Amino acid sequence: IKCIGILTSGGDAPGMNAAIRAVTRSGICNGFKIKGIYKGYEGLINDEVRTFTTENVSNIIQTGGTILRTARSKEFMTLSGRKKAYETLVKESIDALVVIGGNGSLTGAKDFAEEYDFPCIGLPGTIDNDLYGTDNTIGYDTTLNTITQCIDKIRDTATSHERIFFVEVMGRDAGFLAQNSAIAAGAEAAIIPEDSTGSDQLIEFMERGIRKSKKSCIVIVSESPKCGALYYANRVNQEYPEFDVRVSILGHLQRGGSPTARDRILASEVGYGAIQALVQGQRNVMVGVRNNEIVYVPFVDAIGKRKNIDKQLIKVLDELSI
Ligand code: F6P
Repeated sequence: IKCIGILTSGGDAPGMNAAIRAVTRSGICNGFKIKGIYKGYEGLINDEVRTFTTENVSNIIQTGGTILRTARSKEFMTLSGRKKAYETLVKESIDALVVIGGNGSLTGAKDFAEEYDFPCIGLPGTIDNDLYGTDNTIGYDTTLNTITQCIDKIRDTATSHERIFFVEVMGRDAGFLAQNSAIAAGAEAAIIPEDSTGSDQLIEFMERGIRKSKKSCIVIVSESPKCGALYYANRVNQEYPEFDVRVSILGHLQRGGSPTARDRILASEVGYGAIQALVQGQRNVMVGVRNNEIVYVPFVDAIGKRKNIDKQLIKVLDELSI
């Protein structure tokens, strides 16, 4: 391997730039040429490629978003799209690929690696924290802190008006952001997909809340097409009309901002780990950090196995929100 291509794909996550910097600098240190591929797999298909020097990644460790831009490429999901991508790699003399992204992006890397017998390394870049085999994903810690700060602010107005707030947070189909931000912000409850009794949970919570005669409260709800914050707010309006209810959907502000130190360190470690993986002849693995150690997780496991929420966290929130 002489030349390594790097791209970011899927939803951006704070810390992606720190990862781009780490892969570029560690790659150069180890004698590789590094090429940045713009707009994820779209840029690979359309040959939007530029050689990276160490200066290209100066002054970016502290910035959110991704300097490489990103996309959710539909074309890369097709055989013909992946063929075009392969042709770009041949034309650009790129002989290994580092993909920074979440579940969908690493699925694309896995399919491509298998079809073209091409060395691909994945880095866990998603705010959702839903990749198996790594304790945390790049962006998760920053987003958790952002959500916590937002809930703190919502708490001020909820208390002043004695209202119930349903705050909807991202996470795709995982409840890591909801459960942990609820604990961090001292919210009264979290409704997460991992707890399938979601609707009963609401009644239970309302009745407990009424008993406690709390005047205001905050319920964090994981995004969901059918059972998001609006769904629960409507139910409370109908079933408990004596309460004053409001909804706050935090949306994409959760994905922005300067990465926390923890995200920068994780991104730096796994970026370094990606180059080490290639030096050691590893391929088709995601680099993660588990129990403070860099680990190589086969793509099939990283995307195929379900990362479970620690059930103890549900108990912690329940007991502390009395
Ligand atoms: O996977 C990251 C994420 O932010 C999810 O939490 C969310 O469901 C989704 O991306 C939103 O995607 P988009 O930016 O395409 O609306």
